[in-house]
Amino acid sequence: MEIIIQPNVEIATALAARLLGKIIREKPEVVLGLATGSTMEVHYRSLEANKLDWSGVTTFNLDEYVGLAPDHPQSYHHFMQKHLFQHVNVSPQSVNIPDGMAKNIPAECEAYERKLFAAGGIDLQLLGIGTDGHIGFNEQTSSLASRTRLKTLTPQTRKDNARFFGSEEQVPHHVVTMGIGTILESRHCVMLAFGARKAKAIAEAVEGPITSMNPASALQLHPKVTVFLDEAAAADLTLKNYYRWVYDQKPDWQKL
Ligand code: GLP
Repeated sequence: MEIIIQPNVEIATALAARLLGKIIREKPEVVLGLATGSTMEVHYRSLEANKLDWSGVTTFNLDEYVGLAPDHPQSYHHFMQKHLFQHVNVSPQSVNIPDGMAKNIPAECEAYERKLFAAGGIDLQLLGIGTDGHIGFNEQTSSLASRTRLKTLTPQTRKDNARFFGSEEQVPHHVVTMGIGTILESRHCVMLAFGARKAKAIAEAVEGPITSMNPASALQLHPKVTVFLDEAAAADLTLKNYYRWVYDQKPDWQKL
């Protein structure tokens, strides 16, 4: 894992956006795995500033709430439209988000996996992290080999996400999410985490044992992971000075 610690959110997101920009320019037909949440909101804003050509890009989102229609203000369909898709020239036919309104959820999950496979798999998967270490909506004790499926949110995640809904009661109990096995198959995982409330989850994910109690720790098994952090999110990392040193020693050709 490459851990990149930056002084603040703005610098970290700008750097992550530069990485994404580089990838889109190098491979215009890139398949991107996209995420949601307040961390991504900031990131998409800084990505937009890069004025990239999205016309050849295909996207697959990680997850969606069950029972929320695409035009529901808290659905991830709506989030993506508002924070990214309406600002870039991605073709609507190339956008894929799990359908939380599907009558047959298991069939929808299987179809999503098939589509992903047919698209050649994900080149770069963006990830945020929950305060308990969840990625996508893979909550604690999710199978580290899981595929796209229905999940039940934990009380903690419903509490964390209540800020978007107005009240906790309005947060759906169920979601469809790519599995950890699905995520691990992407060719490059890029995680962003900011703020003190993510510090514990990040330290466990990066330096703790690989355990389904922190689903993001499964990324330790992946050959190519880049993690962008601000100082607050990096606070609990034992080897933070080493990660800084490694980053400073990077050869020019590896720099962003
Ligand atoms: C939700 C999303 C995750 C995201 C997490 C953290 O649970 N399903 O993909 O990583 O929120 O979001 P935030 O960036 O708002 O802290």
